[in-house]
Amino acid sequence: MADLTTDFIGIKTPNPFWLASAPPTDKEYNVRRAFEAGWGGVVWKTLGSEGPPVVNVNGPRYGAIYGADRRLLGLNNIELITDRDLFTNLEEIKRVKADYPDRAIIVSIMVPCEEEAWKAILPLVEDTGADGIELNFGCPHGMSERGMGAAVGQVPEYIEMVTRWCKQYYSKPVIVKLTPNITDIRKPAAAAKAGGADAVSLINTINSITSVNLDTMSPEPSIDGKGSHGGYCGPAVKPIAMSMVSEIARDPETRGIPISGIGGVTTWRDAAEFITLGCGNVQVCTAAMTYGFKIVQEMISGLSDWMDSKGHTSIEDFKGAAVPNVTDWNQLNLNYIAKAKIDQDLCISCGRCFAACEDTSHQAIAMSENRTFSVIDAECVACNLCVNVCPVENCITMEAMAPGATDPRTGKVVQPDYANWTTHPNNPSATAAE
Ligand SMILES: Cc1cc2nc3c(=O)[nH]c(=O)nc-3n(C[C@H](O)[C@H](O)[C@H](O)COP(=O)(O)O)c2cc1C
Repeated sequence: MADLTTDFIGIKTPNPFWLASAPPTDKEYNVRRAFEAGWGGVVWKTLGSEGPPVVNVNGPRYGAIYGADRRLLGLNNIELITDRDLFTNLEEIKRVKADYPDRAIIVSIMVPCEEEAWKAILPLVEDTGADGIELNFGCPHGMSERGMGAAVGQVPEYIEMVTRWCKQYYSKPVIVKLTPNITDIRKPAAAAKAGGADAVSLINTINSITSVNLDTMSPEPSIDGKGSHGGYCGPAVKPIAMSMVSEIARDPETRGIPISGIGGVTTWRDAAEFITLGCGNVQVCTAAMTYGFKIVQEMISGLSDWMDSKGHTSIEDFKGAAVPNVTDWNQLNLNYIAKAKIDQDLCISCGRCFAACEDTSHQAIAMSENRTFSVIDAECVACNLCVNVCPVENCITMEAMAPGATDPRTGKVVQPDYANWTTHPNNPSATAAE
């Protein structure tokens, strides 16, 4: 039986599924229910400094992008950090942690970029007995205009400086949460590492405007006729998050720093993918906000079943397994050749593959008078567009050509074996000897 127990930077939880810092973790009532539902840990909704709490908008805070079936694909929010009193939060954290010693509570913090501000809040957080802190250097709206959140996360020197303060004034693990609103994610990750961070977590939300009301000309969500950019998350951001995670996992400067993967995790499979890219656990927000806390039960059973089917007994067994296969484009094997194949039994003759290929790609799909579609191997470059636009799963697949076969498009003999390379157009230095 697969063991989902996770040890992330010394913090042990029964499974790798944590709730990310956001409304689901904003208060004791929520967090208790989340733990009862089975979540392994939570990152408490970001706390700010002592003083009057921030004030949120009193109009719509969220916008969304939907799929054709109105399934929520992307969520945008203009919410700030917690608008509840600091000391109420701290008392609640202490109580919940005492009652759930086997679950992780990480306290997310965002205070001004001044040593005194961090020095003041860290002992208060330490006193709660929480397992660690997460530095919110990511929020793209509201707080960044006040010199916090993404305003810090976009300057590696500030990240390093604040991380050092936290390591100095706080004894437990420090996780640095990174903003994706930056050109090269490796720079802030390296800064966090240099400052002594125990881990990085990513991604926070992406700057976004989800829609514009064409009657009022206001971006949405609209507050009295005006809108502001918000933070984008949910299934739509998963590819961006995974790319950034993989960059950190394979870069020589950041390789080895523990990573908590965040961004669009909705199913056990998403979580498994993040873990193969080097994450020690995952955090979830939008999926819980869309489907409720009990979604974790499907994540747990799904991951466990998959691990059993693959013979993985622990998370460590497959953590980082995909990292060696993330490579630079110039290392891709140009001798590998595939062709599209249409399963006529599954084909519903909709013609989408034909329209896409004929109008925008390589004219490699033929349509007969009775609307039978077939691939013209001599034209097909295996771009995959037909697979991507086909509405029937597995109806069109890409089949690798066997070594020794001749590609009818180029007339070249297929040599997919890397070891047989002598020279390679993408990587002229690669030789059989390498
Ligand atoms: C409504 C909302 C509020 C959020 N508030 C915070 C916050 O206070 N602190 C923080 O670090 N991240 C915050 N986030 C970002 C999430 O923690 C997470 O990084 C992001 O939503 C990506 O994960 P997801 O795709 O699973 O939602 C918030 C997200 C949402 C949707």
